[in-house]
Amino acid sequence: MRVGLAGLGNVGAGTLRLVGAHADLLEKRAGQPIEIVAVSARSRSKARDCDLDGIDWVEDPRLLAIRQDIDVVVEVIGGVKGIALELAQAALGAGKHLVTANKAMIAAHGIELAKKAEKAGVQLVFEAAVCGGVPILKTLREGLAANQISSLRGILNGTCNYILNQMGDKGMDFATALDEAQRKGYAEADPTDDIGGFDTANKLAILSALAFGIEPDLSAIFIEGIRDITQGDLRDASARGGRIKLLGIANFFDGKIIQRVQPIFVPLTESLAQVGGASNAIELHGDFAGEIFLSGVGAGGDATASSVVSDLIDIARGNRSPAFGTRSML
Ligand SMILES: NC(=O)c1ccc[n+]([C@@H]2O[C@H](COP(=O)([O-])OP(=O)(O)OC[C@H]3O[C@@H](n4cnc5c(N)ncnc54)[C@H](OP(=O)(O)O)[C@@H]3O)[C@@H](O)[C@H]2O)c1
Repeated sequence: MRVGLAGLGNVGAGTLRLVGAHADLLEKRAGQPIEIVAVSARSRSKARDCDLDGIDWVEDPRLLAIRQDIDVVVEVIGGVKGIALELAQAALGAGKHLVTANKAMIAAHGIELAKKAEKAGVQLVFEAAVCGGVPILKTLREGLAANQISSLRGILNGTCNYILNQMGDKGMDFATALDEAQRKGYAEADPTDDIGGFDTANKLAILSALAFGIEPDLSAIFIEGIRDITQGDLRDASARGGRIKLLGIANFFDGKIIQRVQPIFVPLTESLAQVGGASNAIELHGDFAGEIFLSGVGAGGDATASSVVSDLIDIARGNRSPAFGTRSML
């Protein structure tokens, strides 16, 4: 299976490293070799943490969509629209499978892209878009497909979890904790999406779509970030036997789905309170499966590449699940 890779940053370079390191294993599991034949990024001369020998360089990522020698396009550029969306539309329009890690694009344009994929008879997959290396979308789409999900709650943004932990456990103020998160590479240079709760909302919109069979709809989510959380709030939480966590929450109640992103008091007796550092975690309730709890590395090149490449394996195996778990909304 021949792959065109657009974006060679954290996730793109991680994907190249993984495909290089596990070529034999991937071939066995996928039933055919997975080969990255062409790549594209902004700067050709930039030093990269991956080996580009023998791989074609394409100046404009949109050209990956029309190359005859490519079966699957991987979009790991990012951004809600612009070049990422143009590439996604062009790839699906040209009958190529699309793998993306782009939560902002999927939350905003996922249904439109899924319709295009259905029409072309190709796969749109985005495991890496939610919780990095934690296989939560496959769990919902496949493992829990027989269940009515009544609730889901998750720590979906590692940056916020890290900041709140540093403030609560080490007594740092918000600005120092944010600064440290940026120095460690957890937070973006512009952290608005993380600390404003918008990144969590994008992921929640995607999770809700898969859990409840609804269209991702950011306007239906109440969003409150962590900017106004003080050390006093965290001290109070600790005195009451808990921690404050930024949670994405969706509940199915009385025929309605209520979605919100909010800093919430979580008692120490609950698993979510124990999630440390920049980790992610999700707790779900399925009516037949019961409680499910998944946690792990929610970001970073290696963990996110694990999800990107598992999507590639699914495509190579010929797995054909609907992008959002049901064709009824397409
Ligand atoms: N980082 C994570 O842990 C993580 C986790 C889950 C999901 N994601 C998602 O994965 C995607 C990529 O994230 P990332 O962290 O890998 O981003 P990144 O490190 O900023 O890399 C972005 C890549 O896109 C390339 N690029 C940007 N604009 C371009 C353009 N106009 N034409 C061609 N290439 C362009 C950049 O090229 P240059 O290198 O030449 O500048 C870079 O290689 C995003 O959608 C993000 O939300 C990331």
